[in-house]
Amino acid sequence: MHFFTYKKNKFYAEDIAVEKIAKEVGTPCYVYSQKTLTRHYAAFDEAFESVPHLICYSVKANSNIAVLNTFIKQGSGVDIVSGGELFRALKAGANPKKIVYSGVGKREDEIEYALKTGILMFNVESPEELRTINKIAGRLKKKASFAVRVNPNVDAKTHPYISTGLKKNKFGIATEQAIKEYIFAKNNLKNLVPIGVDCHIGSQLTQISPFVDALKKTKNIIATLRKEGIDVKYLDMGGGLGITYKDEDAPHPSKYGKAVISETKGLDVTLIFEPGRVMVGNAGILVAKVLYTKQGTEKNFIITDAAMNDLARPSLYDSYHAIKPVRKNSGKEIIADVVGPICESGDFFAKDRELPPFKSGDLMAIMSAGAYGFSMSSNYNSRPRAVEVMVTGNKFKIIRDRESYKDLIKGERLS
Ligand code: LLP
Repeated sequence: MHFFTYKKNKFYAEDIAVEKIAKEVGTPCYVYSQKTLTRHYAAFDEAFESVPHLICYSVKANSNIAVLNTFIKQGSGVDIVSGGELFRALKAGANPKKIVYSGVGKREDEIEYALKTGILMFNVESPEELRTINKIAGRLKKKASFAVRVNPNVDAKTHPYISTGLKKNKFGIATEQAIKEYIFAKNNLKNLVPIGVDCHIGSQLTQISPFVDALKKTKNIIATLRKEGIDVKYLDMGGGLGITYKDEDAPHPSKYGKAVISETKGLDVTLIFEPGRVMVGNAGILVAKVLYTKQGTEKNFIITDAAMNDLARPSLYDSYHAIKPVRKNSGKEIIADVVGPICESGDFFAKDRELPPFKSGDLMAIMSAGAYGFSMSSNYNSRPRAVEVMVTGNKFKIIRDRESYKDLIKGERLS
C-alpha cells in the first residue's frame, strides 16, 4: 500500500502533483512519501505487537538521513553494515542500544567505532572476525555483545545475487561450526558476551516457507546453546520480506508475523527484524524526463534523462519496475525500450514494454524505486547524482541536493 495515485489525469505523491515537484527541483529526482514510510513501519510493528520485538531498519535499502529519522521517530533501531552507515544512523538520531551490525567484512576501525558507540550487538560472520572483535574490545576495555550469523543452508527462492542462506554463499557460519564458535568464545574470548543468534537468508522473498525453514534450524541452535549454558536473549531474523513490483504475491507483514510468532511460541527471546525493502521499496519513485524517442530498425526507444547510475536494479538483476506517465494522455500504446543516456546496452529501465506514447519532454514515474535505488546510485559517466525529495501531505522538502559538477571532482587533484 502506498500513496502514489492519479487524481484525474495527473500523478500525485500524497497530495502534491509530481509534475509540480519535478518543475521545481528538476529531473531525474527521487520522490519519497513519508506517509507511506510511516504506514509501512506501523504495519510491520503491529504484526509483532503481541511479542517482544525490535525492528532494526536495514540502512542499506535507503540511507538518506531523513528516511532513517522517519523510522527512528517511530521507535525503530537500525541494521548497519559499515562505519558509514553507523555515522548516518547516529546523525539521524538512532539509539545505539538499537543498532545491530552485520556484514562479512568489518574493518578494525569500524569495529572500534561501533564498540565506542555502544551498539546492541555484532552479527558475526566468521571465526576470525569473532577473534578480532574480542581483541579490539579488550584493547578498549569493553565487552562486545554478539550473535553469530548462522548460515542455515536454506534456499530463499529469490534472485541468485540476493540469496544469502545457502552453503555456497559467503555469508554467515554453518550450524555445526557456529555452535563450536559460541562454545569457544564462552571459554576463551573473555571480552565477548553472546546474546543472540542471527540468520538472514536473502532478499525479495515472496514466500513464507523459507523463513520458517530457517527458523526451525535456528531454534535447534538456540536449544543446543542453552544446554551449553549460553544465554540467548535475541533471535535476529534478518530482513528479506519481498514486495510487489509487478504481479508478485508478496505476503503482508501480518502473514509473516503470524507464521513467525507461531513458530517461536515459548522460545523466550526478543525477536529482531532487519527489514529494508518492505519499508521503503514502494514508498519511493524515480521521476525522469523523456529526452528523445526514436524508432530503431527493430525497436522503439524512449530515452530518458535518468540512467542506470540512478537506478541500477534493472541492469543488475533484470528487475521489473512499473513505469507510469506523470500526466496521462489518450494516445495509442506502443511497445518500447526505456533507456538512459549511459554508453552501455545494459542501461535500461524496461524492455519491450507496452507503454503510453511518451514524447520528448514528458515525465515518467519509475515505480518501486525507494529501496536500493538512490543507495546504489553512482556517478558513472560523470553524472551528478539525482536530488531526493520527501513529500508530506501537500508539502515537499529537498532531503538531498542534486549533485553539482563541482561535487563530481571533490577530492580529486592534478598529479
Ligand atoms: N539484513 C541483512 C544482513 C542484509 O544483508 C539485508 C539485505 C537486509 C537485512 C535487508 O534485506 P531486505 O529486507 O531489504 O530484503 N540490492 C538488492 C538487494 C540486496 C540486499 C542486501 N541485503 C536489490 O536491489 O534487490
